[in-house]
Amino acid sequence: MQEIRAQLSEDLTAATTDQDIEAVRVRYLGRKGAITLLRKNADFSAMSGAERKRFGQQFNELKRFAEQQIAAAQARQTSTALAPPSIDMTLPGLNNHLGHLHPISLVQMELEEIFQSLGFMILDGYHVETDFYNFESLNIPRDHPARDMQDTYWLKNGLLLRTHTSANQVRALEHYGAPVRAIFPGRCFRNEAIDPSHENTFYQLEGLMVDREISVANLIAVMRTVLAAIFHREVTVRLRPGYFPFVEPGFELDIQCLICAGEGCSTCKKSGWIELLPCGLVHPRVLEFGQVDPDRYSGFAFGLGLTRLAMMKYNIPDIRLLNSGDLRFCEQFPAAV
Ligand code: PHE
Repeated sequence: MQEIRAQLSEDLTAATTDQDIEAVRVRYLGRKGAITLLRKNADFSAMSGAERKRFGQQFNELKRFAEQQIAAAQARQTSTALAPPSIDMTLPGLNNHLGHLHPISLVQMELEEIFQSLGFMILDGYHVETDFYNFESLNIPRDHPARDMQDTYWLKNGLLLRTHTSANQVRALEHYGAPVRAIFPGRCFRNEAIDPSHENTFYQLEGLMVDREISVANLIAVMRTVLAAIFHREVTVRLRPGYFPFVEPGFELDIQCLICAGEGCSTCKKSGWIELLPCGLVHPRVLEFGQVDPDRYSGFAFGLGLTRLAMMKYNIPDIRLLNSGDLRFCEQFPAAV
């Protein structure tokens, strides 16, 4: 047994490949291996009980030794096979390519969070709308000149592609009644010639708040809160009169230029102000169309151009980049999480 043990150790040291080790295993532990035969050929009848016991113990110990040594040799072999040369720590890691969020999605998600914190619902509408919700119920009757302000894509069946998210105002009033607080982000369509600042497909985010005694002061307060959250600083706003048939009074809300703080620069075209969004108090006719009593309730609405805001926020020089589908464009914005 001593000899076998010594020989085994020597054979294993000499074994350099998987096959060598396997050959050693067969030579010692195989069906006709030296260790196996040791037991097969032992003449137990010639042994006393104590001898038999000693033989058994020594045999088991030898067998366990052989198994362990062979297993260790195999393990050494696999670890050297995989060892350092296959791991080059200086190579760059595998790149898990995540998609990127579109700048409009980024701005929309940010605004949704802000408005939700102010108790606004986020509602969705239809890209294909009826004349009633897009125009009629917004106090824009059939031959009203305001229809010309928005070049509409009419469908053959008399429906249209919504020209603004205001089409959701009366839908929301009908569905939820008053009081209501909601925003409607989404895609709008106008038949415009496309150039660096005009698209036929763009995004707006409409806001509507109707409750008891809502005034222009509420409109200004909500807008200032939201704008401070988007631009990460206090903003100065001003209202100029603006005309939209569905608000009365109607305004254009400007913010003081964030680049020059009102001094006048190229961004604000030397005026110190940047036109940001149209808004106003909901016209009583619109409330009536939505089955809300204008003697009990009032509200404000605004129409924020998401496309324009994204362009402002990320300094995007050409509106056509937004719908280009060019991944080199999107890859410049934060990755999706
Ligand atoms: N829907 C108007 C537009 O797209 C904007 C607007 C919304 C104006 C809400 C006033 C109130 O031009």
